[in-house]
Amino acid sequence: MSKRVKRNAASVLVRAPAATVAVPAWRTVLQQAMQAHQADDLDTAERLYREVLDLRVAQPDALHYLGVLCHQRGRSDEGVELIRTALQGTPKHPDAHNNLGNIHKECGRLREAECCYRKALEYGPQHHNALSNLAVVLEAQQRPQEAFEAYEKLLKLAPGFAQGYYLLGLFLRNNAQNIEHIEQSVNCFREAYARQPRFVQALEALSVSLYTLGRKEEAKQVYRDWLERDPDNPVPRHMLAACGGAEAPVRADDDYVRDTFDSFADSFDEQLLKNLDYRAPEVLAAALAAVLPAPAASLDVLDAGCGTGLCAPLLRPYARQLAGVDLSGGMVRKARQRGGYDALEVAELTAYLQQQCRAWDVVLSADTLVYFGELGVVLAAAHGALRPGGWVAFSLEMEEGEEDRATLTASGRYRHSHCHVVHALEQAGFDDIRITEDSLRKEFGVPVRSWVVLARRGDGPQGA
Ligand SMILES: C[S@@+](CC[C@H](N)C(=O)[O-])C[C@H]1O[C@@H](n2cnc3c(N)ncnc32)[C@H](O)[C@@H]1O
Repeated sequence: MSKRVKRNAASVLVRAPAATVAVPAWRTVLQQAMQAHQADDLDTAERLYREVLDLRVAQPDALHYLGVLCHQRGRSDEGVELIRTALQGTPKHPDAHNNLGNIHKECGRLREAECCYRKALEYGPQHHNALSNLAVVLEAQQRPQEAFEAYEKLLKLAPGFAQGYYLLGLFLRNNAQNIEHIEQSVNCFREAYARQPRFVQALEALSVSLYTLGRKEEAKQVYRDWLERDPDNPVPRHMLAACGGAEAPVRADDDYVRDTFDSFADSFDEQLLKNLDYRAPEVLAAALAAVLPAPAASLDVLDAGCGTGLCAPLLRPYARQLAGVDLSGGMVRKARQRGGYDALEVAELTAYLQQQCRAWDVVLSADTLVYFGELGVVLAAAHGALRPGGWVAFSLEMEEGEEDRATLTASGRYRHSHCHVVHALEQAGFDDIRITEDSLRKEFGVPVRSWVVLARRGDGPQGA
C-alpha cells in the first residue's frame, strides 16, 4: 500500500492480532498474510488467508481481511459475503463493520454503507475512521446538515485528525452557501496542514479556496513557499502556473498528472460519489450510441485516459476488444481491480496513440483532454490511431468567447473555446464534427459548462 496520505484511509484496516505466548500455526500464517496484504502482494496474501481458513475454519480475522482483499481485486460480492460471515463469529467488531461499509460505499450502496458505519460506531464509539466515513456517505446522500454534524463530532472526537479538518474544509467549500463557508474552509485546510505537515493535498486545497476568494496573491504564495521547500515537485509547479504565477505549459506535465492521480486513485470514486453530477462517461456513451451501430461486441475500442475504469461497463457492449490507457499507474491499478478491459496500459496518451496506426474503431476520452491545453497534437495522434470511419469522442470544459483559445485555470485543468476544438479537429483531418454543450460535473456546487465532442475519421482512401 502507498505511503501517501489516503483520503479513504480505512479501505484496508488490517490490524495485528494480540501476541500470545505459544503461537499457534494459524496465527503465524495470518501474520504473514497480513504482511503480504500490507505490502500489496495480493496473490500471496490471498493464498495465506485461505491457508489460515484451512487450519482454523471460519477464523474471523482471516475471513474479514480476505473479504477486503476480494473487494480490492474486483470481487466485491464475495468480499461482502466473507465479511458478513466473519461478523457472525464476532458481531461486535467495529473494524469489520467499517470495512464492510467501505465496500458498500465504493460500490455505490450508500444506505448499506451508512448502516455499517453506524454499527461500527455502536461497538466502537471512538472509531474515528468510521465516523469520518459516515460523514462522507451522509454528504454523498445529500444530507448536508447530518454530514456537518458528523464532521463536527469527528473533530471533537479526534482533534488531532488532520484528515477530519481536510474533509470538513472540502465539505464547506463544496456546499458553500456564502463566502463565509469558503473562508471557514481556508481555516480547516490550515488546521489540517498544521497537524500533518506532509499533508500536501491540504495545501493545494487551501490555495484553491484562497483563489476562489479572490486572494490570488496568497494563493500563489502557498505554491511558491511549497516549491521553495520542494523545488522538484511538479504539483506546486503546475498549480502556480494555474494561478497565473508562471507560464502555462502546453499540456499538464506527465509528472504532475502521475503525481496527482496516483495519490488521488484511492479516493477518486469516493469524490465522484460526493459529486453525483459527474456524468461524462454516460453522456459520451450516449453520444456515441447515436452514431455507432447497435452494440454487437464488434468494435475495437480505446478508453483514452481510462482512470479507474468508469467507462468500461458502458463501452463493453460495443467492444470486441476494449483497452484502457492512462498515465497514472495508481488509476490503472484501480481499473484493473474493477475489471472489464481486455488490456490496460500505463502510458502517456499522445505517445501511445502515435504508435497505434489505424488500430481502433472508437477512441473515447472522458474528462482527460482537460489536462491538455493545445489539442492539435493529441487529436492528430487520435486521427492516426483510428481506422477510416472511426469515431473520437471526448469531453472538455468550456472557455467562452469566439477566439481560438485554451486557458489553464486555477483548478489545474484547461478550458477550450469552441473555435479551438473545431480548428484542432479540422487540422487533424476529422470530419462530421458534432459539438454540444452540457454540464458534466459540478465544482463547488456549481455546474461546470462543458463540451461533448464527437468527430469521425473520413472513410476515403486516406481517411481524411
Ligand atoms: C479526471 S480523470 C478521468 C478518468 C476517466 N476517464 C473517468 O471518466 O472516470 C483524468 C485521467 O486522465 C489521465 N491523464 C491525464 N493526462 C494524461 C496523459 N497525458 N496521458 C495519459 N493519461 C492522462 C489521468 O491520469 C486521469 O486518470
